[in-house]
Amino acid sequence: MDQYPRPAEGTWTEHYPDLGTGLISYEDCVSPEFAADESEAVFKRAWLNVGRVEDVPRAGSYVTRELTFAKTSLIVVRDAQGQVRAFHNMCRHRGNKIVWTNAPSEETSGSCRTFTCKYHGWRYGLDGTCNFVQQESEFFDFDKSAFGLIPVHCDVWAGFIFVNLAESPPQSLRDFLGTMVTALDGYPFDRMTERYDFSADIACNWKLFADAFQEYYHVPILHSQEATPATRAKTQSMGFEAPHYQLDGPHRMVSTSGAPRRSWPEDFQYPIEVATRSGLFGPWDEPDLGDDLPGVNPGGIPKWAIANFQVFPNLEILIWETGWYMLYRYWPTSPTTHRYEGTLFFVPSTNASERAARECAAVMFKEFALQDAGTLEGTQKALESPAAQTVFPLSDQEILVRHLHKSVGDWVDAYRRERSEAVRHA
Ligand code: FES
Ligand SMILES: [Fe+2]
Repeated sequence: MDQYPRPAEGTWTEHYPDLGTGLISYEDCVSPEFAADESEAVFKRAWLNVGRVEDVPRAGSYVTRELTFAKTSLIVVRDAQGQVRAFHNMCRHRGNKIVWTNAPSEETSGSCRTFTCKYHGWRYGLDGTCNFVQQESEFFDFDKSAFGLIPVHCDVWAGFIFVNLAESPPQSLRDFLGTMVTALDGYPFDRMTERYDFSADIACNWKLFADAFQEYYHVPILHSQEATPATRAKTQSMGFEAPHYQLDGPHRMVSTSGAPRRSWPEDFQYPIEVATRSGLFGPWDEPDLGDDLPGVNPGGIPKWAIANFQVFPNLEILIWETGWYMLYRYWPTSPTTHRYEGTLFFVPSTNASERAARECAAVMFKEFALQDAGTLEGTQKALESPAAQTVFPLSDQEILVRHLHKSVGDWVDAYRRERSEAVRHA
């Protein structure tokens, strides 16, 4: 008997007929022309998560974000009224980069009352207003109020800070996120402030790494070393099937179920997992978050364990039943490379054992992500070879892979249509 809440008829993929079931091309992961249009069509139009409100806790707290795909750097700052704002990190005098610490190309963070340009000392308030110009009277017909920092659309949902580089975004952040994602309103993200951050420059297109987290059935195979021989023997012969997939506009999610790790037999755990009561699946002893966690299990699956929300284009929020979550972000740095960011968020530990449990989860996660990343650099190279002038099959469990490439393709097609219309009318 099928134990999973499958669609009434057919497969997950056929449940969303727009997706089709055909072979797909990975030209979108190798073509420089596609990458250039993707930057314009997707990354300069979609709402992009650049941090959490905890990154800018007080008035004057700021972080900078280097957005290579847009050839820009942003300042994200909390102003005196508590509003989170974003500006291009560029002085309006002669274009100097205003905020950096060790090197202009490196991201930084800090706290200040005004931003002062290192070149000729122009100063800007936390709301971007230019409020001091060196030797102001020597400029011509000059009104410094017209030379504030250039703002970028910025909004916050559930403590996640998003920016939008479009001149006028076609949708508000909330409308863009849609009902599946915003159903998480009220989830206690704000309580999970103990963080472990990782980032890596990876030699593959950003979508290939996103794809590695969009299905789970590669886990018993690619990540077999993460499991003890006893677990491996069992899971590899069983295969793996996730019980619920859901699409909402350009966003998607997959849920998995599973018994809590603490209930597994001892020979299914490594000694470090037993010693720290933690591992890849996170600490075994969970914080009390209450019973009613909104939005995390839209499929209503029994024994729900993980919800993995893929927020278009480049954010993943992975929520664990055991009371913690992870974020992944993928930032294209060229057609065939990207910067990956992974962060684990926990309710703060209150003693040494809780801290050790969180550290163990973080270390295991890093190892796991490295296994994916190492593989994908090989995938990228193979897809750039002449052998890749072909198309590839995707199974039903790869529905989210199909959906990501289709969503990106649809946005790029729409952009290309608009561009050719504009040329025709010029
Ligand atoms: S470039 Fe910033 S003050 Fe001159
Ligand atoms: Fe993986």
